Amino acid sequence: MKGHFYVVGVGPGDPELMTLKAVRILKQSPVWLAPAAHKNGTSTALTIASGVINGEQKEILTHHFPMKKVHAGKPTDPEVEQAWQEAAQIIAGHLADGRDVAFPTLGDPAIYSTGFYVFEKLMENVADMAVEIIPGVSAIGATSAAAAVPLCLGDERMVVIPATFEDTKLNDILSKFDCIVLMKVHRVMKRLVRVLEELNLLDKAVLVERTSLEDQRIRHDLKAAATEKLHYFSTMIVRK
Ligand SMILES: C[S@@+](CC[C@H](N)C(=O)[O-])C[C@H]1O[C@@H](n2cnc3c(N)ncnc32)[C@H](O)[C@@H]1O
Repeated sequence: MKGHFYVVGVGPGDPELMTLKAVRILKQSPVWLAPAAHKNGTSTALTIASGVINGEQKEILTHHFPMKKVHAGKPTDPEVEQAWQEAAQIIAGHLADGRDVAFPTLGDPAIYSTGFYVFEKLMENVADMAVEIIPGVSAIGATSAAAAVPLCLGDERMVVIPATFEDTKLNDILSKFDCIVLMKVHRVMKRLVRVLEELNLLDKAVLVERTSLEDQRIRHDLKAAATEKLHYFSTMIVRK
């Protein structure tokens, strides 16, 4: 395989939070394949990258990845699997022709990113692939910074969970750890507030919506936040 494949973390939104390496790799890659959550929709990662890099001379492709749950250890939804496979095929075609391909992804590629699934599909199908994962500033660190709440100090233990967990697991995790980061909270706020109230943790929680962006909002009154339509870019930290 001639071209290089890069999964590039572009940070949580503020282009200034892109690393120098992310900017260099994106600048030098002639092809970008960016993930879009909706058919014919825009790619958030692409919007962030385009805030810093002029993509005029590049071949920029957006690929739709359905927003369906992926459960570890369980069969993947066929529509999701197909989207990963198709993206991997498109990328493999460019690599075979000697073109480097960058896959910009929101935040850090290691955290709930489609980039890693596509990377794994490529590894399954393409021999001798040259690949590099470029880490990025995650929404986790950016949320902590915005709220000025540390994630863990001393011997504290932190856990990161998608908030779409069922109540029993959530209760258990919230009880066991010192600091709990909840991602993907926007559609389950009412349930989260109920669980936090039961555990007497409501006053230990902070929610940051669209962290690092101009319209960032830091919310301490979670009961009020739960009555509103929240942006998908919402992360909560519960620190005891
Ligand atoms: C699919 S995950 C991607 C996480 C990403 N890879 C990262 O490292 O931040 C999407 C979730 O990340 C969080 N998120 C991403 N960008 C955010 C932002 N600017 N502000 C707050 N939360 C954000 C939200 O919890 C959202 O539901």
